Amino acid sequence: MQKENILITGSNGQIGTVLSQKLIEIYGYDNVLTTDIGHIDNIHGRFEKLDIMDVGHFKEIIHKYRITQIYHLASLLSAKGEKDPMFTWNINLNGLLNVLNLAKDNNINKIFFPSSIAVFGETTPKLNTAQDVPLLPDTVYGIGKVTGELWCNYYSKRYDMDIRSLRYPGIIGYQSLPGGGTTDYAVDIFHKAVKHEKYNCFLEKDTMMPMMYMDDAIHATIMLMEAPKEKIKLKYGYNIAAFSFTPEDIYLEIKKYYPDFEIEYNPDFRQKIADSWVKSIDDSKAREDWAWKPEYTFEHMVESMIRHLRAIYKEGEPTLS
Ligand code: SER
Repeated sequence: MQKENILITGSNGQIGTVLSQKLIEIYGYDNVLTTDIGHIDNIHGRFEKLDIMDVGHFKEIIHKYRITQIYHLASLLSAKGEKDPMFTWNINLNGLLNVLNLAKDNNINKIFFPSSIAVFGETTPKLNTAQDVPLLPDTVYGIGKVTGELWCNYYSKRYDMDIRSLRYPGIIGYQSLPGGGTTDYAVDIFHKAVKHEKYNCFLEKDTMMPMMYMDDAIHATIMLMEAPKEKIKLKYGYNIAAFSFTPEDIYLEIKKYYPDFEIEYNPDFRQKIADSWVKSIDDSKAREDWAWKPEYTFEHMVESMIRHLRAIYKEGEPTLS
């Protein structure tokens, strides 16, 4: 079997932090290179500072570490992306094109591109949303994910490359903090509850969105990447799903553990973004093609988040990315 050397971009991010550790666990310390634009001390793996827009340096790193696979996680999320659309477009889309072109010319045999529920938009059916539906996203982040999927599909076919992609729902984990997303509230709310503070929610109480526990998201990513190539029928983002809930649903579930927990709803510009996405996802294609199935239910996720965060806060304020 060929020895794989994996490079992760955006390894300091919400998913990158956890995925990097998992990849190191599976493939070994010497076979995983974590990279990000700045260094933080929460990843215990080999690290190189890398700006994905610096193609020359990127290429040097690929050669130096004999990289064979890239997990390209570096990007700006939906809410932050709206602050500067052109900058976001440049990083999210041209950053991906840098990865695809470098991969094509430098013997990279597998690439992972994270897509998102942000591909969906106004014209998409909102309930049990199927794999192939109209996509008309309202955010620059969503436009980047739709076009990113199209470029992945194009490069897969045109250059016979092995590029795999998932449309992540909102991801909830205790290991890291998200930054700049619309689904971030579903992580922030736990931190407030465990610290016995009131939560000020930036969405309306009845805003339903598809979500998933971090462990399942990591599991889905590894399953997709390790599946035999012939099982990966889609060369663009697979729908994956676990559960859907509203801010009020999660508040009431957390209240079972913290009866005094209080919430206030003060929706801001992120409400429009959340409303443009869908409420629930049909992921039967991923289930059929590579046997995807989530493990965590909504209740199980809440229990696990609270248990882990209690342990983390007992040690003091967490130093999360
Ligand atoms: N979780 C992301 C966000 O809220 C969507 O992929 O921006």
